[in-house]
Amino acid sequence: MKKVLFVCLGNICRSPAAHGVLLSMIEKEGLKEQVGVDSAGTSNAHVGHKPDRRMSTAAKHRGILLESRARQFDRSDFENFDLVVVMDQSNYDSCKAVALKREHLEKLTLMSEFTPSFKQKDIPDPYYGEEDGFELVLDMVTEGCENILKKLNNG
Ligand code: 4NP
Repeated sequence: MKKVLFVCLGNICRSPAAHGVLLSMIEKEGLKEQVGVDSAGTSNAHVGHKPDRRMSTAAKHRGILLESRARQFDRSDFENFDLVVVMDQSNYDSCKAVALKREHLEKLTLMSEFTPSFKQKDIPDPYYGEEDGFELVLDMVTEGCENILKKLNNG
């Protein structure tokens, strides 16, 4: 089984969205035995919280349930996951700072590596913005998750 961890700042908006979208694809495509998924935040500010209601509502309109509870990213995640996919450069820097070995860094990647049709290098943080920010997150992570599954299927 290949395991993917999505990481953002709070683990209540972007990474839970990616988590829910990939889980939905895994279920639809019958890949539960092959691909595992979780999410985490670099900050501990929202530990134990459900996803932000605005994010959950936007996802629900697309038929996707967000059921994660926020937890903080930990160095052990580099051991337990095959791919650590961060939403922006700040998340990248935070995770890089706790990496101990080259193998850890080799697992770390920006979500935008998997979203070639968007020009943004960061998945924009929607927390202080308007509703359309949550839709953009879903659009971007949906393309990203499709490409992550393709990469995992190809080896
Ligand atoms: P996320 O969004 O990193 O996508 O979960 C945020 C959630 C909370 C905060 C910032 C971003 N905050 O400042 O509390």
